[in-house]
Amino acid sequence: MDSLLTSHQREKLEAWLRYYNDLNLGEFYSDRRSMGKRIVKPRAAEAAAASVSVAVAAKPVPQPAPVPVPALPIVNAPSMFEVLDRIEGDTLELTREQLGECTRCKLHKTRNKIVFGAGNPRAELIFVGEGPGHDEDVQGLPFVGRAGKLLTQMIEAMGLSRDDVYIANVVKCRPPENRKPEEDEVATCSPYLFRQIDAIAPKAIVCLGATAAQALLKIQEPISRYRGSWFDYRNTKLMATYHPAYLLRNPAAKADVWKDLQKVMGLLGLQVKKNSKG
Ligand code: URA
Repeated sequence: MDSLLTSHQREKLEAWLRYYNDLNLGEFYSDRRSMGKRIVKPRAAEAAAASVSVAVAAKPVPQPAPVPVPALPIVNAPSMFEVLDRIEGDTLELTREQLGECTRCKLHKTRNKIVFGAGNPRAELIFVGEGPGHDEDVQGLPFVGRAGKLLTQMIEAMGLSRDDVYIANVVKCRPPENRKPEEDEVATCSPYLFRQIDAIAPKAIVCLGATAAQALLKIQEPISRYRGSWFDYRNTKLMATYHPAYLLRNPAAKADVWKDLQKVMGLLGLQVKKNSKG
């Protein structure tokens, strides 16, 4: 399988398999992998007992015969290539539809609205935040609170509007008390973010804060060590910078973020205004 797929396709396939797992279709698919004559192996304890007696008696001991079980019916099982075709044709609408009124992780219990993401479905630039806060949870839109207003100013300083870019989060439901999303919540929700990114296929992704960078790059270092550097991510350039909420607490870091955003502007071919400040 490795030699048939590019690493990009493999990542997409993995994201989809995680997604099917969420829907509890994993069993369904693994049953179908062993279609035809399914063989039930002797239980481990029986097999171990048999091998011990082989060693002691030094003569062959009859192994329990495999028990054939009837084949399951094949119901339009897609081939790997059909699955890949579907992945290639994935859209934001389909991803939203399949997310549904999600209850896959515990965040659904306390959320008000799912915050799927907003902006241009053909954006060249995606911003990825951590997760909705209070205002986002009320409105169902990303980055509409205080940090969101600052993000809007940052986008406009780049010569863009919010409608030019796409904005999404690692988790789509507000974590209680605005705590960081937990590992299981990120693992459950991030396949939908991967699908959003793949469907949009932007030229650049900007991770706002360490949670987004960790979810996409699986990086554990402090963000100060890698912010402003370009990474290759699924055929796209990715950069992390400080989260706008951090900038509200530490305005001095705005200068660093502005430097980072200027690099993004360079990649996208946007004009950097001579006397513009962060
Ligand atoms: N912070 C985030 O990370 N995302 C939002 O949507 C709002 C605040």
